[in-house]
Amino acid sequence: MADTENEKKTFYITTPIYYPSADLHIGHTYCTVMADAMARFKRLQGYDVRFQTGTDEHGEKIQKIAEANGITPKEYVDDVVGRIKKLWDTMEISYDDFIRTTEPRHTKRVQKIFMKMYDKGDIYKGQYEGMYCVPCESYWTKTQAPDGICPDCGRPLKVMKEEAYFFRLSKYQDRILDLLENTDFVQPESSRKEMIGFVKQGLEDLNISRSSFDWGIPVPVDSNHVMYVWLDALTNYITTLGYPDEDAEEYKKYWPGIHLVGKEIVRFHSIIWPAILMSLGEPLPEHVMGHGWILLDGGKMSKSKGNVVDPVKLIDRYGIDALKYFLLREYAFGQDGIYTNEVMLNRLNYDLANDLGNLVSRTVAMIEKYCGGVVPAKGPEEGPDGSLIEMGTTTADRVEQYMDKFSFNNALEEIWKFIRRTNKYVDETEPWVIARNEADKARLDAVMHNLAESIRIISVLVNPFIHHSSEEIRQQMGIADEPVVWDETRKFDLMNGQKVKRGKPIFPRLDVEKEIKELNRIQAEQIAAAKAKAAKDGSLDGNKDKKAAVEDKKTEEPAEITIDDFDKVLLKVGEIVSCEKHPNADKLLVSQVKIGDETRQIVSGVAACHTPEEMQGKRVVVVTNLKPVKLRGVRSEGMILFADSDGRYEFVTADAPDGSRVK
Ligand code: ME8
Repeated sequence: MADTENEKKTFYITTPIYYPSADLHIGHTYCTVMADAMARFKRLQGYDVRFQTGTDEHGEKIQKIAEANGITPKEYVDDVVGRIKKLWDTMEISYDDFIRTTEPRHTKRVQKIFMKMYDKGDIYKGQYEGMYCVPCESYWTKTQAPDGICPDCGRPLKVMKEEAYFFRLSKYQDRILDLLENTDFVQPESSRKEMIGFVKQGLEDLNISRSSFDWGIPVPVDSNHVMYVWLDALTNYITTLGYPDEDAEEYKKYWPGIHLVGKEIVRFHSIIWPAILMSLGEPLPEHVMGHGWILLDGGKMSKSKGNVVDPVKLIDRYGIDALKYFLLREYAFGQDGIYTNEVMLNRLNYDLANDLGNLVSRTVAMIEKYCGGVVPAKGPEEGPDGSLIEMGTTTADRVEQYMDKFSFNNALEEIWKFIRRTNKYVDETEPWVIARNEADKARLDAVMHNLAESIRIISVLVNPFIHHSSEEIRQQMGIADEPVVWDETRKFDLMNGQKVKRGKPIFPRLDVEKEIKELNRIQAEQIAAAKAKAAKDGSLDGNKDKKAAVEDKKTEEPAEITIDDFDKVLLKVGEIVSCEKHPNADKLLVSQVKIGDETRQIVSGVAACHTPEEMQGKRVVVVTNLKPVKLRGVRSEGMILFADSDGRYEFVTADAPDGSRVK
């Protein structure tokens, strides 16, 4: 962050660059909305902000989808990226730069970065032999996956052998561990701990090139290779600033920045990315902030099944501010949360229509009725005035503290405490009673002034989060032409003589039951459309799920076996007596399964499809003579069978008593 006397302090924030393999859903929107609110907040605080988002366009996956659609990868991504940009435009996302990794400004600089690391001896050519999880697109070492099962999703890994370029990641292990252990570089704390555990297992050199496909940035020293994912993707944060060009003014000005990313890619941002920067001798990012996932009731959203929440549909019905407010208010930073239409609609009704909308419309109506529509000057303080003023003028301090921690929901809760306090002030002062006595006009004016002041402060406080509503409030309060100034939230005597003007309710009250029906209808349409698309394509759509399904098919069709071979597998019925989330892996669940007289601990990679509560009580089929393994540090003694239905793991249940053998 530059901070010289004449220059404003800078603040650089980024979102992940999203894969344009399919349209984005509410999960991506959640991350971008948080970054947008933070950028708006910092701008309002006077920072020179740079907010960057973009798309990660290379890789085998995109190449394959494009091939399946009979077009070039570039044509394919151009189309999807067009829609992504349109989504951000519709949502009025205030980004300053949108990077596409196919742009020459990026590709040429990534090649220069490669050469710098190569010349330093940090990149070398070797032979890669490793285990690869096709659906997760991750390599795993023998130490990390001793049993050949993906520690993240629990599927079998594929052995891959190829010539490749490597980055000497192992060389930076100690420095990375020091960074993680002794700074708050990674947040929240749970992510930091997970990363420390990961580094302690040992870092191996990282494969950074591929010769098996060509949709990527060519490796400058070898025309048979293209760069593979992370070197290409992570460097986007600095290539847009001009790095490593000599005259990279923006780089000097804005770097280092803060990366806001989903928790599943914290590992890449907090281990590989700092190591690349260490190799280049450049400053490390200020922070990597890992946010949680938005889940649907039954697990993760899946494009192929159409069970995604489409942000555009919600904006069409309820407006941008409603969606932004809900996302920022509902979910605690760093934790997963479930999306349901009902919770969303109730939030909109209680917080926006009742608390905020009502306060503004009844205050404007009273100023019109009692004061001829003109805000009176400040009067002497009486009764509850002091506590209202105290809370109003200090809310910004608490909002700032929470925003420092990316705690958007708490920041909004602080603002809403003041909104509710102001509503209570109306009930306490009962202006309609004061108005009955002409002699009390001065008190009535003072109360109206205090209400107008409170609403002015609220219009500033909510501005970074719901800027349309902020503007609408300011319109009705007669201050639309005044600049929105953060520090003016600390004053309480700025309203005097403004002409208020009643407008439409800021948020209409919603009929929750009717809306739920309508949203369910829209979702049913989406699911039907996804099914039709899948039928037309002859498969699922071309995203991760499709690849997973194809790969699973391959692994599901082993060669013929004899009954003796089959008899080697001991299958028994077991009852899941309890189940909890795995402490170190989001995709895994740890169940205690009663099988006859014994109880076994079994780890399953089904957290994306089932909650621990759904698992509990199920009577399932278990492979009981599987060699015990440790999955992400937790012992697993067997395997619960599931049926893979288009990537969703359904239960294989049994009526027989637990302990009985399945033959
Ligand atoms: O990982 N809930 O791209 P990606 C919350 N290209 N956030 C979600 C979400 C959900 N259900 N689903 C997605 C990539 N996200 C790489 C990134 S960066 C150098 C390269 C958000 O399209 C979340 O922020 O898979 C997550 O990290 C990101 O989208 C992944 O986007």
